Amino acid sequence: MEKKIPQHISVIMDGNGRWAKEKGKARVFGHRNGVKAVREITEACAEVGVKYLTLYAFSTENWGRPSFEVNALMGLLVETLKAEIATLNKNNIRLKAIGDLTGLPPKTYKALLQGMEDTAANNHMTLVLALNYSSRWDITNAVRRIAEECNSGALDYSEITADTISQYLSTADIPDPELVIRSSGEQRLSNFLLWESAYSEFYFTPVYWPDFTKAHLHEAIASFQNRDRRFGKV
Ligand code: FPP
Repeated sequence: MEKKIPQHISVIMDGNGRWAKEKGKARVFGHRNGVKAVREITEACAEVGVKYLTLYAFSTENWGRPSFEVNALMGLLVETLKAEIATLNKNNIRLKAIGDLTGLPPKTYKALLQGMEDTAANNHMTLVLALNYSSRWDITNAVRRIAEECNSGALDYSEITADTISQYLSTADIPDPELVIRSSGEQRLSNFLLWESAYSEFYFTPVYWPDFTKAHLHEAIASFQNRDRRFGKV
């Protein structure tokens, strides 16, 4: 029997800073090398037939980092987005973003919009960047909008179901991730896709993100394929 490839993989890319520190380099050097891993994993997912890859690129909490690092990350995003659009198009990959995008620096926001617009017609895989994202922000936002709909009479509160909530999240048109990967040995969700990961399988690896290769992705998928997913049933 052919083994099942997860339709949606989400990744908490962690360990850039520690990777750089171990090499006696600045944290930003780790982020630069993290981009190489992003490229490799995007390609690997497209090759094996994953339909959605969501990357936690910048959390709401990441604004608390030194401004030098925040600026470097935002600059790296602009640079990477501009450099990779052609490759995304060549590989028929659509770019999407989730998070409070209007809260991003204007240059980053603009590059992101341009990237999404330029790749909008692609349909082999969707690469979703979580930027200025946190799950609690998303859920809070959804609750507010649902409350507004109830207030205006467009929605009756007794008709609210779990599906209603899913529809008001920024992930509304994305299936839930079947596999969540976190690198660098940490084993937590850090406010990432909390609602969406209710039935996800988790894969934790000690590998720092810049060292994460195709082979590691294949290992994570193989681990997923050996899980017995029961969704609360027997
Ligand atoms: C976690 O490592 C990484 C981040 C917070 C940022 C991830 C960003 C990139 C890989 C670059 C830009 C991404 C794209 C999609 C172009 P950390 O800094 O928390 O590492 P540490 O835990 O070792 O300090």
